[in-house]
This record gives sequence, C-alpha cells and structure tokens, in this order.
Amino acid sequence: MVQIFSSKKTLACAIVALSVTPALAFPASYSSLGGLSDLELRELMPKLKPVIPPAPPGPLAFTGAKLVDDKKHPWQRQGKDDIRGTCPGLNTLASHGYLPRDGVATPEQIIKAVQEGFNMENRLARFTTYAAHLLDGNPITDLLSIGQKTRRTGPDPPSPAIVGGISNHGTFEGDASMTRGDAFDGDNHSFNQTLFDQFKDFSDRFGGGFYNLTVAAELRFQRIQQSIATNPEFSLFGLRHLTAYAEATFPATFFVDGRRTAPGEAGHLDMTSAESFFKGMRYPKGFFRPAAPVGTENVPAIFTAHPVQPGKNVGGVNTFTVDESLGSILDGCTFYTQFVNTTIRGLYPNPTGVLRRNLNLNLKFFYESSGAGEECPQVFPYGRD
Ligand code: HEM
Repeated sequence: MVQIFSSKKTLACAIVALSVTPALAFPASYSSLGGLSDLELRELMPKLKPVIPPAPPGPLAFTGAKLVDDKKHPWQRQGKDDIRGTCPGLNTLASHGYLPRDGVATPEQIIKAVQEGFNMENRLARFTTYAAHLLDGNPITDLLSIGQKTRRTGPDPPSPAIVGGISNHGTFEGDASMTRGDAFDGDNHSFNQTLFDQFKDFSDRFGGGFYNLTVAAELRFQRIQQSIATNPEFSLFGLRHLTAYAEATFPATFFVDGRRTAPGEAGHLDMTSAESFFKGMRYPKGFFRPAAPVGTENVPAIFTAHPVQPGKNVGGVNTFTVDESLGSILDGCTFYTQFVNTTIRGLYPNPTGVLRRNLNLNLKFFYESSGAGEECPQVFPYGRD
C-alpha cells in the first residue's frame, strides 16, 4: 500500500513544486482557476457549470495482466484540437481512448484510466490525480486538461502552444524531466529528442540496452546535475522532490509488458517500447498492462542511490541550496501540510460558495489518498463544512 507518510521521517512516496498558476488567456471550462483575483473569479464563476465532485473510484476488481492495446481502444493520431502534455502515461491513455481523446477529463476518469490502462495502484492514482487537479484543474467544473493544445485554432496562422493544465510550469510540472526540457529553456512540454537520446545512452551504459531501476537512479541524478549547471531558476522542492524520483521509476514498471515477469525481463524496458510511449504516445502492439498494481515501492531504491536534498538555485547556475520549507520525499507530513496551507492556499486565498465547497471536497480526497495517520492530521485552510 502506498504510504506517503510514515511515523518516522523515512522515505515518503508519492508524486512537484509550486508557485502561482497563470490564468490562460482564453479561459476554457477546464482552465485552472488558481491564481485568479477575486474580481476575475466573480466574473468567471457564473459562466461555469458547477459540478459536485464525486467520491473517487476504488481499486479494480481484476488486477492482473491484461491486453490493453485492444480492439476497443485503438490508437488514433492527435487531432488538431486535442490536448497532450508532459506525461507520457496520460498521453498514451488519451490516444487510445481510455481517457477522452481531447485530453480533458474529470479526476474520476483519470483514476479509472490509469488503473485500467496501466494497473496503477489505487492510492497512488488518487494521490497523483487530486494533487494535479488541485494545482492545475478547474474545481468548479471538475475538469482537468492533460496539457496544451499544439496550436490555437481560429483564423490566425498557427501560433505557439497554449500551455496549460498539467503542463503549467511550477505547479505539478517541474524541472529536470527525463524527456522534456526545463521551462527556463523555453519548452517544458514537448518530447525532446536530445534528452531521449540521453535516456537511451544511459540505458545502454547502465542497463545493457534496457531502462531499469539502476538506469533510473543514474539518469535521475544526471538530469538534476544538468539542470543545476544550466538552469539559473532550477528548483526541486516540495511536490517536485517527490515526483521527480517517482516518475523516474515509472518507465521500468508501467511501460514493461505484464507478461515479461521472468528474471531479467521484469522491470526491463526495451528502447522500441520506450520510444512508442514517450514519442508516439502509443502502446507497443499487443501490449499487456503490468501483472499486479504498481505504486511507489521502487522509489526508495533510486533515491538512496543518489540522494539529493530538496532545494533550488538561488543566485544563478550552480548555486543549489537546500530548502526544506515545503517538505520533501523525506518528510511527508511537512509536504502535505505545506502543500495545502501554502501552495493551494496561495492559489486560492479566499474561495467562497461553490469554489470553497469543491476545494474542500478535493482536499479531503487528497488527504485520504495520502495514507496519513494521526501523526499528521488533516488541515482545513478554508474551515470545516
Ligand atoms: C495518475 C495521474 C497522473 C498524473 C496527474 C500525471 C502527471 C504528470 C505530470 C504533470 C508529469 C510531468 C512532470 C515533469 O516531469 O515535469 C508527469 C510525468 C511523467 N509521468 Fe505522469 N501522471 C499520471 C499518471 C502517470 C502514469 C499512469 C504513468 C505511467 C504509465 C506516468 C508516467 C510518467 C512519466 C514516465 C513521467 C516522466 C516524464 C519525463 O520525465 O520525461 N504518469 N506525469
């Protein structure tokens, strides 16, 4: 069972760093409301259709391996108005119709899809989804987008992507991704061939041509060192400290066919399959999901191989300084408490009405997904209903 908390300050596991989300220039029903002024909220809220967020789905009834590249879920190329983003898992699920193909979904749909399509363990699925929804979703309409449109539609010539949803930098999306550049370098969401070549090179050098947990530990460390040395605004604290390590384990577990369970096969991702997920947003032909639910059980191994404390560059490149103010993978309770009281409250300082009610419901779902016990009580920044 995934526990992001422990009674001691041991490794906590879960899923990214934090600042105010900019409002999209043309708000859609799924655009984040975080960071809007009271005036903007007053103007926008009457135009949105309020939804009461339902309780999150439970675990799958059947949790074994299963063909997921099936006839009911054919891959389709991204349409010009479809949204894709920084997450190869969610991109793949949208391209196969496990998620709405336009890339806009409710938390309920996302939790069901990651379980069905990748056998993600229920608590991790809930934790990740509600963290993303609170940071980047629309709490009134209960919708979240999995990234950005490739280009604007309309009479004008194609223009740069409208970055939004989970691709918003500094919310869930963060620096030192394995196959995406840092926001400081101009594109934090597109597949980056140079970085993927590094992914393959590390798989050759440390995994005999396969991506596994040994490779994950080395590549995670390498990407952090690269960003410290090249990105003056590099940050890796709070949620990003958790997600950077967790996501590095995902390709070695979720992207390996569930029939490959023999020693030397399990946890070993071949490069053709890796390219299919990261670049093609597509299951390899005839892909089976993992044979058992997968959570964050592999995260401690890759963190302890090269532990980097939470922190950020404070005065240009190569000025990485430890910053524990928002908690980290090492301190789940500080992470949880600061996430709610500082980050979410920073995005929504003074919610009222339906917005307050729905934020409270989502915060409850988030707390319940964390596995916290009495040692880390729920916090109520907007009061108890
Ligand atoms: C449960 C809902 C999920 C949400 C909300 C989510 C969200 C995200 C986000 C925002 C990122 C970008 C973080 C960054 O590197 O800056 C990301 C990265 C990633 N996600 Fe997901 N994700 C989810 C589920 C999954 C699943 C099921 C898989 C695998 C099947 C997956 C695999 C990955 C991987 C491998 C990366 C790292 C990409 C890279 O570093 O280049 N995610 N995810």
